[in-house]
Amino acid sequence: MSSMVIVGAQWGDEGKGKFVDVLTRQARWVVRYQGGNNAGHTIVIDGEKTALSLLPSGILRPGVQCLLGAGVVLNPSILIQEIEQIRSVGGDVSPGRIVIDRDAHLVLDYHIAIDKAREERRGAGKIGTTGKGIGPAYEDRSQRSGIRAADLCGIDACKDLVRRHVDEKNKILRHVLESEVQIEFESLWETLRMQAEVLAPYVGNGSSLITTAIENGENVIFEGAQGVLLDQTHGTYPYVTSSSTGAGGVLSGVGIGPRCIGEVVGVVKAYTTRVGEGPFPTELSDSVGEYLREKGHEFGTVTGRPRRCGWLDIVALRRAVRVSGIDALVLTKLDVLSGLETIRLCVGYTNVSGVVDDLPARFQDFEGLEPVYVDMPGWHDDLTSVQDYSDLPTTVQGFVEKIEELSGCKVVLASVGPGREQTIRVRNSEILERFL
Ligand code: GDP
Ligand code: IMO
Ligand code: MG
Repeated sequence: MSSMVIVGAQWGDEGKGKFVDVLTRQARWVVRYQGGNNAGHTIVIDGEKTALSLLPSGILRPGVQCLLGAGVVLNPSILIQEIEQIRSVGGDVSPGRIVIDRDAHLVLDYHIAIDKAREERRGAGKIGTTGKGIGPAYEDRSQRSGIRAADLCGIDACKDLVRRHVDEKNKILRHVLESEVQIEFESLWETLRMQAEVLAPYVGNGSSLITTAIENGENVIFEGAQGVLLDQTHGTYPYVTSSSTGAGGVLSGVGIGPRCIGEVVGVVKAYTTRVGEGPFPTELSDSVGEYLREKGHEFGTVTGRPRRCGWLDIVALRRAVRVSGIDALVLTKLDVLSGLETIRLCVGYTNVSGVVDDLPARFQDFEGLEPVYVDMPGWHDDLTSVQDYSDLPTTVQGFVEKIEELSGCKVVLASVGPGREQTIRVRNSEILERFL
């Protein structure tokens, strides 16, 4: 059995898409298990950039099958657009190669309207969601009123149900959220019927397919979206997304048993970024923060929003390693740090009561929290064409090894640019042999 979970070890955008693509050379399946098109995963092959928000990042490897698992919430029109995008570059988008689990829930226009209206009402207290309707779609799943992929296979049976949902959401929009926006049932329904015709052939039984694949010894990659610190339960609540982003989400998000999970690989950026609101102890609002944003092109893939930037936070990383059972790390964007005199790593926090050794549970308790840093010497070398770990300057090697020491986790791969080939093996590991 060979399976690997790839999770973001920070607040998202760590470079998961690149590494899912890099590690799928020998994979049979790549599986998304949570989230929706709030994700934006970028893959660069021969200088050609592809951004994916729903299709798994294995889609660009011929022969790799792609599953949208039961834990995903999917917007049918975005999925159809992505299928067309891949078809237009000659990719295989046939049903069977792409499978949508029958139990995955749909994101419909009223979820998006509610997401946006709720954020507007929150004013200064907003979460800074992507506005893609993700939270409201998961709410409907929990309160048992969601429309699922299986329903696409007999959509006419859902007409009255969808009509009732539209009525109810319109009341919430008008009377609770005081929004002007109203959803028109007939046009939503006509669109949904057309989408059902396109997507119904893709609907299948993901739980059964993946269990069988693993029993047959095939390589399976579970692709996390967002990051562990955005996990609905273990993240910086309430500034989180609405799904289980860590490895724990894989079991229920695919419908497999715990023994189907192999290693867990955490993708971590050499510094930290965050989009949207919420605590960020090592955030830099000075010229270094600006330098990281410009040099690292830190602007959201999904919304284009500038990402907040700061130093790598080892306390937060240790939390992600523990919460998600991360076995090994992949370290991205080392090239972006070139040109800085000093690079800082946050190794703890203090506040008026003394030392704080984990992210506080209450967002109010981030107030007055001071990061404790160790300073590492920077480097000025251009790293973007380095291929071997031994060719990296000793300052860079020292930085990588310090992260290993402080996080308690080995760095197996490092990345010095967005391209597939800009990948360096740091340590030999059994996990990599089976996938690289
Ligand atoms: P994801 O959501 O975790 O898949 O990450 P995103 O795709 O949203 O953001 C990561 C961005 O960094 C993308 O534009 C990648 O192409 C890019 N990227 C990934 N690794 C590296 C790297 O090592 N160096 C640089 N400069 N860019 C990278
Ligand atoms: P990938 O997979 C970074 C953030 C939003 C917001 C919070 C809740 O590309 O790493 P939501 O729309 O999910 O209700 O928003 O989560 N967020 C992300 N931040 N990368 C992502 O995905 C994100 N998906 C959601 O900015 O703060
Ligand atoms: Mg992203």
